Amino acid sequence: MEKKFKRTTVTSALPYANGPVHIGHLAGVYVPADIYVRYLRLKKEDVLFIGGSDEHGVPITIRAKKEGVTPQDIVDRFHSLIKKSFEEFGISFDIYSRTTSQTHHQLASDFFKTLYEKGEFIEKTSEQYYDEEAHQFLADRYITGECPHCHSEGAYGDQCEKCGTSLSPTDLINPKSAISGSQPVMRETKHWYLPLDKHEGWLRKWILEDHKEWRPNVYGQCKSWLDMGLQPRAVSRDLDWGIPVPLKDAEGKVLYVWFDAPIGYISNTKELLPDSWETWWKDPESRLIHFIGKDNIVFHCIVFPAMLKAEGSYILPDNVPGNEFLNLEGDKISTSRNWAVWLHEYLADFPGKQDVLRYVLTANAPETKDNDFTWKDFQARNNNELVAVYGNFVNRAMVLTQKYFDSCVPAQGELTDYDQETLREFADVKAEVEKLLDVFKFRDAQKEAMNLARIGNKYLADTELGNWQRPIWNA
Ligand code: 2FM
Ligand code: ZN
Repeated sequence: MEKKFKRTTVTSALPYANGPVHIGHLAGVYVPADIYVRYLRLKKEDVLFIGGSDEHGVPITIRAKKEGVTPQDIVDRFHSLIKKSFEEFGISFDIYSRTTSQTHHQLASDFFKTLYEKGEFIEKTSEQYYDEEAHQFLADRYITGECPHCHSEGAYGDQCEKCGTSLSPTDLINPKSAISGSQPVMRETKHWYLPLDKHEGWLRKWILEDHKEWRPNVYGQCKSWLDMGLQPRAVSRDLDWGIPVPLKDAEGKVLYVWFDAPIGYISNTKELLPDSWETWWKDPESRLIHFIGKDNIVFHCIVFPAMLKAEGSYILPDNVPGNEFLNLEGDKISTSRNWAVWLHEYLADFPGKQDVLRYVLTANAPETKDNDFTWKDFQARNNNELVAVYGNFVNRAMVLTQKYFDSCVPAQGELTDYDQETLREFADVKAEVEKLLDVFKFRDAQKEAMNLARIGNKYLADTELGNWQRPIWNA
């Protein structure tokens, strides 16, 4: 039987504050999340929509180094830009905060300490890549090389962006430092690890048996991770940008960005609701939904749930609607290659046209496979669907109301069979749209919703001919 919940906490992936957001972010995460929370609010359900910037990690420090500024300069610049463009675009967050906030540093630090004190980590000294020219360990994106799976060049130490595989630096073929370009050497370093292998049993049951309703792409990725067998994952890094590991013998170590970032959802809730945040994260009658892109699946379905479970007092996500990627004109969107439609530029170039982009991104949402955004399709959907179908319906309804009813909605007269049939069709559309939104099928829901305008146009055409007061359908 379906479980009844009292409230829903909706999170949307925290974008790295190392660049502006683009249409790929919007289509994959923010537009569907925004549709979902607006839908719940319309139904008068209790819902919180949590967003924020992810301000730690290597992507930030790499950009800072490239520009010769501090990481703080980078995150200050992009956090404000991202926040402002989301606001202008109409993403209706209840809070959009940041992981450099005091509240977040404290909460993430305390979370780590709790797990440490409960004995939930293992401490391990291992050899890791070190750049002797830059005098620095090379975590995650500081190291690049050939992907062992798809053999493309330029894969990072944490992930190959080409094939999406999650990697460790030692998996890379011909690794080299992204800082100096030199060949790294191995050096010993101590870190704290979350023993995911210890969590495998319950994760397997929780995902593979209890959450068969998750999207096939999300479920499938989790299954393949679980089938490969989970390994302990380091939750600290040798970096000077991040939240310091809150232990005595941890000089120069910070929390791994993927340890602190999801805790950011909790910190931002706490910042918004200092007295009642726990209800949204700990009450079993609260429902947690994470909207993410496909490169974030493992962190939200396996690593973060393992952290929450290890801590012991939190609920686990009920669903994780993860989208595939949106390409642009047949090519992968890329911040570093500047191949994207940037949100702040769209807003400047198409003032007042936020809903056109929302519509096109939803019509083309990469829900089951990667999809392509093209300007030709943008134009066609605007002209053939929004203007010709939806706009036409609204326009005719307004013009006719003005012409025949003095610009006021008239009292309901006697309903003809055709009127009643049309009203029934409207109700059917509403029910179908709700059914689709409940299972996160936004693309189909929007298509169905457009049927209201189609039915309306047909109704007006059928009834307007000859005599507006006496529908021909009944004549
Ligand atoms: O992939 C990304 O852009 C990450 N910054 C997403 C983080 S989601 C959450 F965990 F904060
Ligand atoms: Zn690859």
